[in-house]
Amino acid sequence: MNRFTGKVAVVTGAAQGIGAATARRLAAEGAAVAVLDLTAQAGQDVAAAIREEGGTARAYACDVTDGEAVEAVFAKVEQELGGLHILVNNAGITRDHLFFRMPKSDWDSVLTVNLTSAFQCAQAAQTYMTRQKYGKIVSLSSRSALGNRGQANYAAAKAGIQGLTATLAIELGPYNVNVNAVAPGYVATAMTAATAERTGHAPEEHQRLTAERTPLRRVAQPEEIAAVVAFLASDDASYVSGQTLYVNGGAR
Ligand SMILES: NC(=O)c1ccc[n+]([C@@H]2O[C@H](COP(=O)([O-])OP(=O)(O)OC[C@H]3O[C@@H](n4cnc5c(N)ncnc54)[C@H](O)[C@@H]3O)[C@@H](O)[C@H]2O)c1
Repeated sequence: MNRFTGKVAVVTGAAQGIGAATARRLAAEGAAVAVLDLTAQAGQDVAAAIREEGGTARAYACDVTDGEAVEAVFAKVEQELGGLHILVNNAGITRDHLFFRMPKSDWDSVLTVNLTSAFQCAQAAQTYMTRQKYGKIVSLSSRSALGNRGQANYAAAKAGIQGLTATLAIELGPYNVNVNAVAPGYVATAMTAATAERTGHAPEEHQRLTAERTPLRRVAQPEEIAAVVAFLASDDASYVSGQTLYVNGGAR
C-alpha cells in the first residue's frame, strides 16, 4: 500500500512507542514524516531507520506545550518537506496519583501535554490544511477516558481529546479536513512499563495481568495502534470524521 505518496505528516512524540511506530508506518506507505519530540536527538534514530528503509523523514525538536515553538516548527516542516497534510497528536505523559493526593502541578502538566498541546498543534496545522482544502488530524485519546483509578488528570485530558475531535470535525469539515481520535487500551511501551514499575510489577507481569482480563488475551503492540492511525489518516477513511475509535482488544 502506498496511501501517503506525496503527503507530509507530522507526528508528535515520535521518538519512541506508538509515535515511532506511526512515523514508520506512514513513511512505509510513502509519506515524508516529521519526527517531532522534545529534542531532535531523541527522534534521530527513528528518522534514520526510516531513511534506511528508503523512506523520507527528518527529526525536529519541539516541545508541543510551547505554542510559538509549534508554529515555528510547522512552518519549517512545510518548507523543508514540502507541505503539511497529516497531523498525529501523539505526545503524551502520565502522572498518576489517587485523586485525594493528586498535586495540582500534575493535573496541570498532564492536561497541558495531552490536551492543550493537541489544541495548539491542530490550530497551527489547520492554517495549512484549510488553505489547501485537504487535511487529516488524528489524536491519541485512551481507554482511560472512560475512567481509570489513579488517572483523574489523564482521563480528563483524554476525554477532552474526544470533545476536541468532535468539535474540530464540525468546524474543519467544510474545508475537507477529517478529524478523528484513537483510544487504545494497554499498549506495551515505555509509558506502561513505567506504570508497571510504579505499581510494583515487572512490565511482563503487568502485561500478563492485563491480558488476562482482555478478550483477545494479550496487550497491544505499538504497530497495531499505528495501523489504525494510518487508516484514519488515509483516504480509506475519507468519510470518517469526528469519531473516536477504541482499539483495546475487545475490553468493555
Ligand atoms: N501505551 C499505552 O498503553 C497507551 C494507551 C492509550 C493511549 N496512549 C497514548 O498514546 C500516546 C503515546 O504513548 P506511548 O505509550 O507511546 O508513550 P511513550 O511515553 O512511550 O512516548 C511518548 C513520547 O512523547 C514525547 N513527549 C512527551 N512530552 C512531550 C512534549 N511536551 N513535546 C514533545 N514530545 C513529548 C516523549 O518524549 C516520548 O517520546 C500518548 O498520548 C499516550 O497517552 C498510550
